[in-house]
Amino acid sequence: MKKTALITGASSGIGRQMAIDLDLRGFDTILVARREDRLKKLASELRHNAEVFECDLSQKEECLRLYEAFKDREDIIVLINNAGFGQVGFFDETPLDRDLDMLDTNVRSVHILTKLFLRDFMARDKGYILNVASTAGLLPAGPMMSTYYATKAYVKSLTLAINEELSQKKSKVWVCALCPGPVDTEFNEVADASFSISGISAEYCAKYAIRKMFERELVIVPGAGIKAGVAASRIIPTRLYLKAANSFQTKKVK
Ligand SMILES: NC(=O)c1ccc[n+]([C@@H]2O[C@H](COP(=O)([O-])OP(=O)(O)OC[C@H]3O[C@@H](n4cnc5c(N)ncnc54)[C@H](OP(=O)(O)O)[C@@H]3O)[C@@H](O)[C@H]2O)c1
Repeated sequence: MKKTALITGASSGIGRQMAIDLDLRGFDTILVARREDRLKKLASELRHNAEVFECDLSQKEECLRLYEAFKDREDIIVLINNAGFGQVGFFDETPLDRDLDMLDTNVRSVHILTKLFLRDFMARDKGYILNVASTAGLLPAGPMMSTYYATKAYVKSLTLAINEELSQKKSKVWVCALCPGPVDTEFNEVADASFSISGISAEYCAKYAIRKMFERELVIVPGAGIKAGVAASRIIPTRLYLKAANSFQTKKVK
């Protein structure tokens, strides 16, 4: 039977690699992002059927248009909410419109698509939703990337709560969160950032995430070093953590 995965942010980085991994696993794909030319090129390189859907997920109407286009497709059994971006800078200095665009893309679109597709998946009692949060969402806060960290905390929190509700309802649908540390993608360029520690490859991150999603892991953190860092952040006093995080994050400013 035909099985399809819908992936947002498939024009670059982690989302692109997830599309490639799912294609190798025999999935048809629906590739979503704003840069249609890149999506078309990727679609032409995949072995299985790949549909391209140009969409600006920072717009509520566009999120709804995406859902309307695919809501009746019972072959869609995987939704990956991956599109997102960050911005480095002091909170009082980053432009308000940029922050709001980030909230709309990283939070509101994930909220809308998760809610709408989840209802359909639940009605069919099958499917996987992978929300791409970040290690940022597992940490107390992120000075110099304050809005980004807050958006990812939202995604992590929402996802974990939904997972428990599904368990209470004895649903077979699985909803989980990917929380990577630094990954080598276009993220830095978009965020005006330079990473102070080297990242894992997008290919490794995507492969690991998809495998763990199918193994029904709830919080997916690729890399032992990052897991240890998150664990350490939970035992040091918050004020001390914030000072250390600020010093680490300041190194990201170009
Ligand atoms: N790289 C990291 O270190 C890292 C670490 C943890 C979590 N993450 C998360 O991983 C996800 C993917 O990021 P990445 O690292 O792969 O960065 P990336 O290479 O910059 O890819 C971001 C993707 O999101 C899409 N996107 C951004 N705004 C969009 C919008 N308004 N509408 C539709 N699509 C939009 C982009 O497509 P278009 O520009 O073509 O629209 C692109 O395909 C993000 O949610 C990010 O927060 C990244």
